[in-house]
Amino acid sequence: MKVLVIGSGGREHALVWKIAQSPLVRRVYCAPGNPGIGRLAENVPLKVDDLAGLLAFAKKEGIGLTVVGPELPLSLGIVDLFEENGLKVFGARKNAAHIEASKAFAKDLMKKYDVPTAAYEVFTEIDPAVAFIDRLGIPVVVKADGLAAGKGVIIAQSREEAVAAVTDMLSGNAFGSAGARVVIEEFLRGEEASFLAFTDGKNIIPLASAQDHKAVFDNDTGPNTGGMGAYSPAPVVTADIHEKVMQQVMRRTVDGMASEGRPYRGVLYAGLMIDGNSIKTLEFNARFGDPECQPLLMRMKSDIVPVLLATAEGDISSVRLEWNDKAAVCVVMAAGGYPGSYPKGDEISGLDKAGAIEDLFVFHAGTGEKDGRFVTNGGRVLGVTALGATVKEAIDRAYRGVKEITWKGVHYRTDIGKKALSRSA
Ligand code: AMP
Ligand code: GLY
Repeated sequence: MKVLVIGSGGREHALVWKIAQSPLVRRVYCAPGNPGIGRLAENVPLKVDDLAGLLAFAKKEGIGLTVVGPELPLSLGIVDLFEENGLKVFGARKNAAHIEASKAFAKDLMKKYDVPTAAYEVFTEIDPAVAFIDRLGIPVVVKADGLAAGKGVIIAQSREEAVAAVTDMLSGNAFGSAGARVVIEEFLRGEEASFLAFTDGKNIIPLASAQDHKAVFDNDTGPNTGGMGAYSPAPVVTADIHEKVMQQVMRRTVDGMASEGRPYRGVLYAGLMIDGNSIKTLEFNARFGDPECQPLLMRMKSDIVPVLLATAEGDISSVRLEWNDKAAVCVVMAAGGYPGSYPKGDEISGLDKAGAIEDLFVFHAGTGEKDGRFVTNGGRVLGVTALGATVKEAIDRAYRGVKEITWKGVHYRTDIGKKALSRSA
């Protein structure tokens, strides 16, 4: 079978790496891919939102399965389009991907189906929004309703900051139409975890637990990013918490989406805040997390293609997934300045040395190629991902790889996985 992966980040490199290992797969394509992906698959120069171009390519090449990485093509309806044309495609349909594309929709769904989440209200006018901020008190969380590339959430530490965020969003200055509605919600304390599951709209198969590191600097300081590193398993997700999440978050959400006439097929990602025994859902994503996908797929023992195919076909009841007992840690190496502006085109050295380390893989995200050499071409540049018998071992191995690699202005966090260590100690 021929498989087409859509996207160009570390997540898509991990997907291509895993899919290419399947005995069911003859050839892998990636649109648009990146130079690292190009070592394992054939890159196709089509943008992720060029739905017509992607459809024409899949038809012409006789693609047996298309796997959609990012949210943008999902929210534009790529899955609906491919299905209408009789093609097998893994991902959420447009009306299901709405769970990520509109935070107001996701919050209202959670309220209606009793999925634990922070107290909130949705606003389109500034005055009532400010009155609600005064009711909740500080800190308070202000979220743009629509897709904002992970930047639409402001944790306001003062009333002034909260009012400014609301005013910016509702007046259309920040995030354009994505900010035309805002969600204002209660600030939650605790430890975050990423909980992902495959679902065909009825059956739910959880992936291993994972934890992301959103803030750009050590000790969770500085602005939020798409994710600076991740590890799996996440000890904060105990067996009890896992059960609770499956029943109160995943089951209720999958059933709720079906009742709403938006059957959910694909991978459902819940961002959770865990505080002792309490779980609250921060958000849903309609796709694999990035970087979480990288350590998760390194730990997945089973062939991934059967579960992707079964999900696309709408019945995962006979699928079983096996996981490696080892831990996996991914350290993201970013361009200095990210998540703000950053330079591009800096030559990356040490990739071969790092790549020679056993049980370690360097996934490419924002890389380019110039005169046969790898250069930086994005904010998050690489995801150095390693396995280890323990989290400690996986951390040490990942950082051994990181230390081999450098470029001008490279930035990475030095504390990825530390929270898991403090829990298992
Ligand atoms: P979201 O895109 O909704 O997951 O928000 C992005 C990040 O903002 C989350 O990963 C959290 O770190 C933080 N966040 C979002 N909502 C809250 C909340 N209610 N309380 C505390 N932190 C939050
Ligand atoms: N790592 C967080 C996300 O993929 O949204």
